[in-house]
Amino acid sequence: MAIPHFFSIFIKSSYIFLVVVSCFLDQTHAFEPKNTKIHDSFHTIEITSLFPTSVCSPSKDAIKKRPSTLEVFHRHGPCSKLSEDEIAARPSLKDILSLDQSRVESIHARLNPTPTTDKIIDKKVNLPAQSSISLGTGNYLVSVGLGAPKKTLSLVFDTGSDLTWTQCQPCAGFCYTQQDPIFDPKTSTSYSNISCTSTTCSQLSSATNQNPRCSDETCVYGVQYGDQSISEGFFSKDTLTIASDVFPNFQFGCGQNNRGLFGRTAGLIGLGRDPLSLISQTSTKYGNYFSYCLPSKSSSTGHLTLGKAGGHASSVQFTPFDSSSLGSSFYFITIASISVGGQQLPIGQVVFKTAGAIIDSGTVITRLPPAAYSALSGAFKQEMKKYPAAAGDSIFDTCFDFSDYTTISIPTVSFEFGGGVKIALSPSGILAAVSPTVACLAFAGNGGDADVGIFGNAQQLGYEVVYDVAGGKLGFGAAGC
Ligand SMILES: *[C@@H]1O[C@H](CO)[C@@H](O)[C@H](O)[C@H]1NC(C)=O
Repeated sequence: MAIPHFFSIFIKSSYIFLVVVSCFLDQTHAFEPKNTKIHDSFHTIEITSLFPTSVCSPSKDAIKKRPSTLEVFHRHGPCSKLSEDEIAARPSLKDILSLDQSRVESIHARLNPTPTTDKIIDKKVNLPAQSSISLGTGNYLVSVGLGAPKKTLSLVFDTGSDLTWTQCQPCAGFCYTQQDPIFDPKTSTSYSNISCTSTTCSQLSSATNQNPRCSDETCVYGVQYGDQSISEGFFSKDTLTIASDVFPNFQFGCGQNNRGLFGRTAGLIGLGRDPLSLISQTSTKYGNYFSYCLPSKSSSTGHLTLGKAGGHASSVQFTPFDSSSLGSSFYFITIASISVGGQQLPIGQVVFKTAGAIIDSGTVITRLPPAAYSALSGAFKQEMKKYPAAAGDSIFDTCFDFSDYTTISIPTVSFEFGGGVKIALSPSGILAAVSPTVACLAFAGNGGDADVGIFGNAQQLGYEVVYDVAGGKLGFGAAGC
């Protein structure tokens, strides 16, 4: 099982966890909602000290039924194929949220290179705005094969970046310790370097936001992520194996100097829109179509499925990608409205439209335009007013003290996207536990109206999220894994 999601990450440190014991069973509860549409306005959840199981119980169905499917596991959970120390090295909530903020800032910087004055100051300190790519909390991993004979590598997958890279021998600069043996191009009969003069080399500029360099006629890539993590090395080609599909001449970074917060992973798979992303490079076979489910239960795993062949959950509803997606690596979608307790919040369309929104597999907490966040927070507080407020924590400012409760009622939160697609978030996408007795609304507001909204992974858990890139639409299917 992966300790799949954001909350589970810190349960082992004896934080509370909110378990859904039942939704809608609460009609006799003292805090019965006044809303008449009781069945879709509240979740009843039990607060309990939950210690995660140390036994992995993978979700087999999700993997078996389809070809070209990879099992997704959480980097720090018991299904992790990484080492015990990686599991033990689970970051604190504070660290997770701080990395999450770095990722968000780097996404904002990439999309909005001329930000307001106060933000420029921030960025000069933290972020080389033009060159950073988002990384942050890349917690979901898959295993693929590289080379001939193939070597298995556990890589973070990321819809917010494009270049796929792995650490490579001889690690001329530096390699961090990884779980799998470090890929050695000398042992692969199908490996080759890409030359500086090839057109592929020049494509690196858009995929990495950095111009390639040249070393002995070999194309050298460099990529820097928002949290200052870097990878640089030879831009190369080798055979990539995904499940039983084989892709000769897959272009990737053979990292000679790799530093930062990659844990024991072997590197990263870029699932963005750029021509160098894995999605683009495998488009002949998979048709620019992929889906994933990030597991929402601490005893399960998810999947990353390439291509349409295996179909998807029958209940998938599609929202069109926003046209802002074109020319960007990111996947833009339209948020139309947000409802709390079954009531749509009075947020003007212009609020969501100003900077638009993307969906991202690597950002944990959904970021909203300031006015939308404040409406959400206000309505949520109103519905939760029976519970004492608690001080904010890190990026969270809408927190509650549940010391006196074992069971609580929380309003439902649903998002409506363009095309009338409405999804109800699971309780784990609504509240995040920050201490044994305090939980907070699991959303944050952006610093300004010009910052893009981000629909993050805490809010995607358990859904099958379908990226029909060629068809120009994004799907959500309930009970995806
Ligand atoms: C790739 O290029 C680097 C730098 O020029 C060189 O050291 C290495 O031997 C080359 N590898 C192959 C397989 O050509």
